[in-house]
Amino acid sequence: MRINGIHYQTIWETDEKPSSLAIIDQRFLPHKLKIVELKDLTEFVFAIKEMLVRGAPLIGVLSAYALYFAVRYSDKVDFDAKFANASKLLLDSRPTAVNLKNSIELCQKAISSYSNIDEKKSSLLATARKLLSDDIEICKKIGEYGSKLLEEIYVRKRGTVNVLTHCNAGWLATIDYGTALSPIYFARDRGVPLHIWVDETRPRLQGANLTTFELLHEYIPHTLIVDNTGGLLMQKGLVDIVIVGTDRTTRKGDVANKIGTYLKALSAFDNGVPFYVALPSSSIDWTITDAFSQIPIEVRSDDEIKFVWGKYQNELTKVLICPEETKSLNYAFDITPARLITGFITERGICPASEEGLLSLFPEFKTTQ
Ligand code: MRU
Repeated sequence: MRINGIHYQTIWETDEKPSSLAIIDQRFLPHKLKIVELKDLTEFVFAIKEMLVRGAPLIGVLSAYALYFAVRYSDKVDFDAKFANASKLLLDSRPTAVNLKNSIELCQKAISSYSNIDEKKSSLLATARKLLSDDIEICKKIGEYGSKLLEEIYVRKRGTVNVLTHCNAGWLATIDYGTALSPIYFARDRGVPLHIWVDETRPRLQGANLTTFELLHEYIPHTLIVDNTGGLLMQKGLVDIVIVGTDRTTRKGDVANKIGTYLKALSAFDNGVPFYVALPSSSIDWTITDAFSQIPIEVRSDDEIKFVWGKYQNELTKVLICPEETKSLNYAFDITPARLITGFITERGICPASEEGLLSLFPEFKTTQ
């Protein structure tokens, strides 16, 4: 999508070798467009942990590149150890998003077909490149299917369609287009008049910092709201549909997503507002059935709660918003049970939020568990 009219992806290879991977450092958006080049495993793990890049699909693709960069100078003696060490560090870096695990497993499968080290390395790079291009295609498909929902609301309502979204599940959370925001971009292209309610999404403010930035640069009308406003807007009939992303969805259809998603789903349920999750198959964990006991919920530093970053007199500044001694608790994700979800928008179409619904679109996973 565009920044100042120029097309960007979140990450790209700097040359054909590639000698590094360029990323947009999202910590400085919307105030500064900073590009950083990653060259070794330490830099990749730092970028994921510290959220220079974030969003489940994006960190999934990035972790495949990280594996390639981790082993690119290795030989027969140390290849396996380096690969195993990198896989562990990456899996631990953001535990909730299943995309890392799914990418790492695909990389493991790719190298297992070769015994020659150079071929193993080439297969890793090819896998990372394939994941990157697949992610773009998946997001486009989600956009196409999801835009039909928005078009239907427009035809029925004959007025601007109000969409509420939480966190950032736009192009900045993927390679391009996004998941929850992709239907918005595609509906805009089909002439559907739209207005987006953007949850600020405390504590990291991905909505305030990133979703607004994306929408502004794509000229999509939007309004920033604090996380607690959605319920009132729904009671007032000012929300036609909620679309969010996901970091891990179980085969039963329960969804782990950014903290606060569950409360939006409850309000939507109570007010009869359709609540959809944009779900690329890379975010499905087919191996688990019980979200509450089986999805590890990331607990992040309490600094994210106690301090807020912003721009003051042209400088980026961090300010303390509570007594320094006060304890805080920073769960990064929550679980929305499938019963509160109207449907999933996937790259293969829209389905009910249930095991049957998911398997109707992905029958090849009937036996995986
Ligand atoms: O902590 P983040 O910013 O990585 O969390 C991102 C979200 O929760 C998104 O909603 C989710 O990854 C889906 S992104 C397509």
